[in-house]
Amino acid sequence: MNKPGLRLGVLASGRGSNLESIIRACSAVKIHAGIEIVISDRARSQALEHARRNQIPAVHLDPKAHSSREDYDAAAVRLLHEHRVDLVVLAGYMRLITSRLIGPFKNRIINIHPSLLPSFPGLRSHRQALEWGVRISGCTVHFVDETMDQGSIIIQAAVPVLDGDTEETLEARVLEQEHRILPQAIEYLAEDRLEISGRRVILKSPKPSAGAMVVSPMIEIGL
Ligand code: GRF
Repeated sequence: MNKPGLRLGVLASGRGSNLESIIRACSAVKIHAGIEIVISDRARSQALEHARRNQIPAVHLDPKAHSSREDYDAAAVRLLHEHRVDLVVLAGYMRLITSRLIGPFKNRIINIHPSLLPSFPGLRSHRQALEWGVRISGCTVHFVDETMDQGSIIIQAAVPVLDGDTEETLEARVLEQEHRILPQAIEYLAEDRLEISGRRVILKSPKPSAGAMVVSPMIEIGL
């Protein structure tokens, strides 16, 4: 089937809710993109099930069948090229990727991370945020380079951290925003509206917005 727009390859390891948000946005033609292949390092990843249910080619690429992370990534690149993928989306992908994947897709790999980077990179971001006591957390879509969670930031969404929060309640609040900003970042790329300038990513011709601001805890005395 010929799909218009950006050809996506999604790499995912787990539950696949971010993948679902992209599938929804593509089906509703809210973004000019189509998913050409979903690759997972885990055979039982729900992401593979979501893909199959939506007639998207779904491949379990078994790490045990490859002698190194580089070999594994080379196999992933072959699959992505076979499916003529323009943009690689890491959506809950739990493996560190190597230059074998980054090289052929320079500035064409993006990742969603559940914190306001550069705070709380790596694993268990919500636990880190709660332990640190931040009042605001959120999520980040960024370009992927050889560093961990340090590539140029495309878009972030903030949410308040509430006093009674647990990792689970905070995760749910952040996840809702992940499902908005990941498809949005893809659409910016599909529209060719991003310009990388050093560490900064400039959005060309931004549309007027409400100028939203998050203050947490809420200001109560009308300042
Ligand atoms: C998300 O919180 C994402 O930010 C992180 O891993 C989680 C994946 O969730 N990288 P899902 O598999 O997309 O539901």
